[in-house]
Amino acid sequence: MKRYLWSAAVCALLSHAPAVAQELAATPPMGWNSWNHFAAKIDDKTVREIADALVSSGLKDAGYIYINIDDTWESDRDAQGNIRTNSKFPDMKALADYVHSKGLKIGIYSSPGPKTCAKYEGSYQHEVQDAKTYAAWGIDYLKYDWCSAGRVYQRSDMPRVYKQMSDALKATGRPIVYSLCQYGIDKVWEWGAESGGNLWRTTGDISDRWKSMDAIGFKQNGLEKFAGPGHWNDPDMLEVGNGGMTAMEYRTHMSLWCMLAAPLLAGNDVRNMSDETKEILMNREVIAIDQDKLGKQGYRVAQDGTNEVWAKPLAGGEWAVGLFNRGPQTSKITVQWKDLNLTGKHHVRDLWAHQDRGKQKDRFSAEVLSHGVVLLRVK
Ligand code: GLA
Repeated sequence: MKRYLWSAAVCALLSHAPAVAQELAATPPMGWNSWNHFAAKIDDKTVREIADALVSSGLKDAGYIYINIDDTWESDRDAQGNIRTNSKFPDMKALADYVHSKGLKIGIYSSPGPKTCAKYEGSYQHEVQDAKTYAAWGIDYLKYDWCSAGRVYQRSDMPRVYKQMSDALKATGRPIVYSLCQYGIDKVWEWGAESGGNLWRTTGDISDRWKSMDAIGFKQNGLEKFAGPGHWNDPDMLEVGNGGMTAMEYRTHMSLWCMLAAPLLAGNDVRNMSDETKEILMNREVIAIDQDKLGKQGYRVAQDGTNEVWAKPLAGGEWAVGLFNRGPQTSKITVQWKDLNLTGKHHVRDLWAHQDRGKQKDRFSAEVLSHGVVLLRVK
């Protein structure tokens, strides 16, 4: 009798267990991508070293799980039409096994067109076959870049063409995160999720300069309603640690991307990182803003010239607030609780200083250095 009761209880528990596996990209994907730092100079050996470094540096423990190989791994097709890797990647399956052995996941890159942006072989008319190959290799993430597809398709074909690869990936039965890259053409945020995208680029390519990062990042306001668990706006990969911006500017870059619930794909050489770069990429309190399980993208709540206040709703009724100074001089910036629909006193924590700022009534002000940010958690 006792045994019967016990198994009945277990059955009852199991029947209430969620029926589906955890949603892909339930929070914005985190990892590393080869393009920003290495471009075409990426190969099997480097990817293995990057995998090792993700683990030894602590990036993996901080949440950076995907290692994404961008363009230039492709060669030609064999007699059966199967895509082949070039000599830089002698055995993609073995490389995927190595990455998986480190507890990491691996991503790859292709184009719906005949050629990729760097003029390597694309997936045109081989979509199902390529998806099967990726799954057989053990690939966990695909970035699918429009590039030459404009030569064979109309712009209006985009939603259908992107859906085609999504269907092919799903048919493999392997969970593969699907990243749309067509630079935001035709308001991709309005149809990217329907085409099966877990994320979609909203802009052209970022470069490692303040002007580029600033223009892309602050332009994302208004797209917040299209992001959510499983489907994210992608303002492009991180440049933190690549050398073209100051530490202050990289902190702003990281803060803004986290406020935007953007995918966090480090784009630097993680084998050689300064302490400053590590501190920026691995600030757990800042990452927690990006990865908050409510999955809301932040937006601008106030602006005065080059001073901007951004807010992001968090789980449990908390808020993240970014006080951003895009201008050339130090500036005092204030967030008003009423702009977050809050009244009374609220506890404030500074996420870069790692310090509590006490209970604040009605508003909070801070001196923000040029191109800098003060990032807060308000509860
Ligand atoms: C495009 C993409 C980049 C990168 C390159 C590779 O420019 O937007 O992110 O993937 O192609 O060729």
